[in-house]
Parts: sequence; C-alpha cells; structure tokens
Amino acid sequence: MKVTIVGAGHVGLVTGACLAEVGNDVICVDNDKQKIEQIDAGVMPIYEPGLPELVGKNMKKGALRVTTSMEEGVNHALVIFIAVGTPPKTDGEADLSYIEMVAREVALHMDGYRVISEKSTVPVKTGEWVDRTIRLNNRHKVEFDVVSNPEFLREGAAIFDFMYPDRIVVGSGSDRAAEIMRELYQPIIERNFPGCNVLLDEVGPVPLLVTDVKSAELIKHASNSFLATKISFINAVANVCELSGADITLVAKGIGLDHRIGKSFLHAGAGYGGSCFPKDVAAFKKISGDLGYDFRLLEEVSRINQAQRELVVSKIKKTLWIVREKTIGVLGLSFKPDTDDMREAPAVDVIKALQAEGAKIKAYDPQAIPEAEELLQGVEFCKDAYEVACDADTLLFMTEWEEFRTLDLARVKEAMNYPIILDARNMLDPNAVRAQGFEYVGMGRH
Ligand code: UDX
Repeated sequence: MKVTIVGAGHVGLVTGACLAEVGNDVICVDNDKQKIEQIDAGVMPIYEPGLPELVGKNMKKGALRVTTSMEEGVNHALVIFIAVGTPPKTDGEADLSYIEMVAREVALHMDGYRVISEKSTVPVKTGEWVDRTIRLNNRHKVEFDVVSNPEFLREGAAIFDFMYPDRIVVGSGSDRAAEIMRELYQPIIERNFPGCNVLLDEVGPVPLLVTDVKSAELIKHASNSFLATKISFINAVANVCELSGADITLVAKGIGLDHRIGKSFLHAGAGYGGSCFPKDVAAFKKISGDLGYDFRLLEEVSRINQAQRELVVSKIKKTLWIVREKTIGVLGLSFKPDTDDMREAPAVDVIKALQAEGAKIKAYDPQAIPEAEELLQGVEFCKDAYEVACDADTLLFMTEWEEFRTLDLARVKEAMNYPIILDARNMLDPNAVRAQGFEYVGMGRH
C-alpha cells in the first residue's frame, strides 16, 4: 500500500520504517530540511536501537523515501498518517496547531480519496476538527475519511512495539477506511512479515480493535494515564513501606502476582518522565475538565510523581547532612534507560535542586550527555561511572542503565570520598552493596 507519514520524529520515523519493512511503499515528510537531509544521509534525528539499520535497509530497497514536499507526500499515498508534535501549553492543554497546519496542507493537495490517520496523541474530538479543517480546504472536492490510529510505542523498544503490538486500535466512522487500515496492518496482525519471530499458530493474531474515532482517541490518553497511575500508586506505597519498615520490592511482587493487577509498571523509584506520561496525564486532566469532569485522581498522580523527585533530594540531605560543597555523582540522566531522551527526566529536577543547595555535580550517562548539556549548567560530565565516583561524597543512581548493574563496586568505593549510594531506581541489591562496605539508601526499602 502507498503510505505517507507527515512528521519524521520518533513516532513518524518508526512508523514509516516499520510499514516499509512489512511491504509498503512509504514516504516520510517533514518540513525540517536539515532533518530530512540527515535522514537521507543515514543520520537519525533520535536515538532508537535498530532504527538506523531499518531506515537504511528500506531506503536502499526503495520502500522508504524522505522529502520536505507535502505535495509529493499527499499525491503519493492512500493512507496519510499525521505524526507531528503536540507539545503541551502551560495549562497542560496540547498545542494542536501543527496538526491543523498539516490537515490544511493535506486538503489542499488531495486529488483523490485519502484516509487521514491521526497518529499523534491528541485530545478526544480532534478527529472532528481535522475532518472539518479538511472539508473547509478540500480544493478538489475529493472523498476522504479521518481515522484515529494511536501509537503505543515505548522509546527504546519502539520497533518491537510496532511489529509485535498488544493491540492495534483503529477509530473510524467509515467501513471503507477501517478496511483499508486493516489491510495495511494485515502482515503485523497475521504475524506474516519477513523476519517475524513468532508463529501465528502459537501466539494468535494481534487483536485489532475497531472503534469510533472518539473512543480511539480516548484509549490513548486513558492507557497512558492508567500506566502513570500505576507508577504513582506504587511510589505512594513505597513511601508507606519506608515509614513502616516494609520492603516495596516484595510488596510489588506480592500484589503483581494477582493477574488482575499484573506485575509490570510496579517498579518504585524516582517516578516517570519522558515525552508521553507527564504530558498525557496533564492533557487528559485538562480535556476532562473542559468537558465538565474534574479528574482529580490525575492531579494526585502528577503530584506524587513530582514528590518522588523531591524525596530523592531530601534523602541526599538526610544522608549527607550538609550538602553545600559536597560532590554528588549522578549515574544516569535520561528519563529511562536505552534512550538519550531528557524530556521531563527526573534527573534534571534533582540535579537543579541539589545545585541550588550548593552541591557540586558530576554526571555520566551512556547516551544522554549531549542532550543534558543543553539543559543543565555547571555539571561536570564524565566519561564513565568510575570517573563520576572519583572524590564523590554520594553516588546517586538516577537511571537503570544495564551497565550500572555490573559496576566493579570495590573500584567505585576506592574512588569515592564517602561510600554512600542512593539508589533512586531500586536497581541494586542492597545486601551486595552493603557487603562492599557502602551505606545503601533505596526508595521504600531498607
Ligand atoms: C510510554 C508508553 O509506555 C507507551 O505505550 C506510549 O506510547 C508512550 O509513553 P515511554 O515514555 O517510552 O512510553 O516509556 P515507558 O517505558 O513506558 O516508561 C515511562 C516512564 O515510567 C519512565 O520514566 C520509567 O522510568 C517510568 N517507570 C516505568 C517507572 O518509574 N516504574 C515502572 O514500573 C515503569
């Protein structure tokens, strides 16, 4: 099928490369000329494992092209995905001006039937606005359908999530468009694409849920808000564990074994960050409020999340007594491992708060230092964890990168000024750390 993706960011590029990989003829359009030239030259605008290879391979075989021309993109495709950014405004509301702009441009160039699919995370009822915008600018008076096809891609695992999704959601008011979307996703649904490493007979097809447009839009916000709620819930329980002497890792295990609860997303720590959860929780709360429902639960979810960052700072104060002039070594800066993404990363708030207390900060992250340099001033960035440990008064683990799990703790201790570890992600074994002579502080466990 001929497909165009507007917006060559994280979601757009992964969607384009994956749809090309499963046999479609794909164009990615972006108005950022430099970004398009870079992709053309094999340089990805974002860090996503496997993406450079997938993009390169599909560009080479002609299944994927990139361009800055909307006209070329719109002329090319039957299905046009809108995957542009929806950044938050100060009140949490999503800024939909890029979506509107793209909808208008699509309408101006359409010369035949098109399916316009919302891929960006948008508030419920955006589909109606997109539909209206296209109708008002539909120069050639052609038929079209607007559908909602939310993405559920985790950064760092985006290609896997696209190829092996838990479900595919299509919101459509038209059978014709829903059928086209089903056909487009057929290889993924039927587990029938080159290199697929599961068997249809063993795992069954991917569930395809066809809904109305508004329900699909809501599914995205409700999913992310629910996951964020799960994280804030477990962080709240971690605080009770800490006060009572219980161990949150055991409590999480115990509740997660109930299949109705499930064991994932019950990892207590410094809280969630990234480009989705904070933004989506705020946006969902705002939309609900605008519609007349005061979704206070979500306010509390955000509050607990913010409080976890403050808790990390207060734990450092409690351990060091005087923070002024002390050196805190920070391991991990990105909002989670396997990404260079610093958006809403807890490390940023924590580092700024420690600097405000007069602490000196040394930091290392396997991928995120260039991004972090843009956001943080006065931090000494190091080449590895051991350099961070050198003369540090506390070592603070902020992101659970795999390489931090296998550090030579004896060497770390040797390098440090005080042997104190604050494990803000509960990623280390407290007994093993203590056995090396460290003072260990975790989140909700002793
Ligand atoms: C998320 C959703 O998972 C994805 O479906 C959606 O489309 C986009 O948002 P992402 O932001 O890439 O993806 O990250 P995810 O892996 O879900 O983690 C989000 C945050 O929650 C991270 O900061 C992570 O550290 C934190 N987290 C996750 C916890 O603190 N505890 C957990 O148990 C799980």
